[in-house]
Amino acid sequence: MSADFGRGGRPLNVFITGASSGIGAALVRRYAREGAVIGLVARREDKLNTLVASLPTHAPFTRSRYGIHIADVNDAAALREAALAHMRNFGCPDIVIANAGISAGTLTELQEDLGVFEHILQTNVVGLVATFQPFLEAMKAKRRGTLVAMASVAGVRGLPGAGAYSASKAAAIAYAESLRLEMRHYNVRVVTLAPGYVATPMTRDNPYPMPFLMQPDDFAEAAAKAIARGASFQVIPWRMGVVATLLRLLPNALYDLLFANAPRKPRIDLRKIRHPRLTPRGPATRHGAMRDTATPDTVREAIDAAEADTRPARSPTRRSGDTQPLRD
Ligand SMILES: NC(=O)c1ccc[n+]([C@@H]2O[C@H](COP(=O)([O-])OP(=O)(O)OC[C@H]3O[C@@H](n4cnc5c(N)ncnc54)[C@H](OP(=O)(O)O)[C@@H]3O)[C@@H](O)[C@H]2O)c1
Repeated sequence: MSADFGRGGRPLNVFITGASSGIGAALVRRYAREGAVIGLVARREDKLNTLVASLPTHAPFTRSRYGIHIADVNDAAALREAALAHMRNFGCPDIVIANAGISAGTLTELQEDLGVFEHILQTNVVGLVATFQPFLEAMKAKRRGTLVAMASVAGVRGLPGAGAYSASKAAAIAYAESLRLEMRHYNVRVVTLAPGYVATPMTRDNPYPMPFLMQPDDFAEAAAKAIARGASFQVIPWRMGVVATLLRLLPNALYDLLFANAPRKPRIDLRKIRHPRLTPRGPATRHGAMRDTATPDTVREAIDAAEADTRPARSPTRRSGDTQPLRD
């Protein structure tokens, strides 16, 4: 398939979820530098406003090139509204980047982690589908466009203590591959990006060494190149790609030996989170009201509360198994 970005002298048109932080914000800066019109999606309006205020405005750049959409990727109707508003203002995007995602350690043996599993899978997998869906009809009709799924090297093999995140990213990789085949007949490309370690709030408090750690702007530069050439699957940085390939080839027995004791992502302990919005919905039991009444809504509220109220000070000595807010 031929490259079709920004054809006919018009600016590149890009739509990015998770634009308020980390990799998403770096992608916004990257595409803004080349004069793209950009739709930015996230839940935190203040972060999006601050980012847009920092983007180039000298001619031919103007603020009107940037559309801010406050939406949760778990709210398909809100995402559809954002997508339609973007297409009304700027037309069908050349590139849609489904980048919004969350991460936390999880353990299957803990009943209270079930809601966290659900929330991570919903956000990281169904959120991708809901991001792409509103654009497909227009892209298929125009027979052009690129859909970008932000996966992770964590989806290449299951990591201990990160069952939800690894499963969500493995699902993202498989889902994007299915979509790639479905879209092939319509000249719509699907690019799967699998970052290694990138220095963002998501990895800031990881209590273990992060090989080949990249800065977000360097990641965004490499990602933009992979997207422009329509790579079907790209690990960034390439050195982590070599590691991922070797990991995929390792026999299970050897993988188990090497990784059973690997350091773990801190998990969220919902029972330790106290917030006025978290009122029990049913009768308290001797096991604790939170454990028995946690619904997807209360889990989501707990995660929001943790992010807003209980972000711990950075601690280089944090141990595996300690808890922390979801985004860290
Ligand atoms: N950093 C890494 O090393 C790394 C490695 C592999 C893969 N990744 C993937 O890269 C993507 C970006 O991660 P990051 O490191 O840049 O993390 P980050 O700095 O924590 O940013 C996450 C972004 O996702 C948005 N988001 C989260 N939940 C959302 C929701 N329900 N609705 C809308 N937006 C939501 C956040 O915006 P609001 O909170 O404002 O909504 C934020 O903009 C994720 O998919 C992540 O899994 C990262």
